[in-house]
Amino acid sequence: MEMPSMPQPTFFLFKCEQSAPPGMPKPSCVNEQTQDLFNYLSQMLMEKKIMGPVQAIRTSCLGRCQMGPLMLVEPGHYMYCQLSKEKIDRIIDEHILGKEPVTEFLIPKQYWDEPVSLEK
Ligand code: FES
Repeated sequence: MEMPSMPQPTFFLFKCEQSAPPGMPKPSCVNEQTQDLFNYLSQMLMEKKIMGPVQAIRTSCLGRCQMGPLMLVEPGHYMYCQLSKEKIDRIIDEHILGKEPVTEFLIPKQYWDEPVSLEK
C-alpha cells in the first residue's frame, strides 16, 4: 500500500516542562508562575494557524535550569531562556514567522557554548 508523503515540520519547539519536587533547592522551568507557558505557546501556534508545520514538544530537563524557563528551537540550536508570554509572542513573530532569531532572549554564551565534538 502506498502511503501519502508527509512533509517535515519547519520548526520544533522543545519547551522544558520539568518541575522540581517540593523542597528541592535547585530551580526548575515549571513552577506556579510559569506552569501555563506551554499551553500559551500551543494556543498562539493555533491562533496563528501554524500548529503542525511548527511542533511544540514538552521535554524534560534541558540541563540549564538556572536560566529557565527554557525553550530550544530547532533547527539551529537556539536556546531561549527566562521565557515569558511576551517573549513567546516575539519568538513566534520574529523567529518562527520572520526567520530572525530574537538574539536578546537567547541564553548567554557561557551557558550554551559550542557543541561538544564527538570526534576522537
Ligand atoms: S528544569 Fe528546565 S532546564 Fe532543567
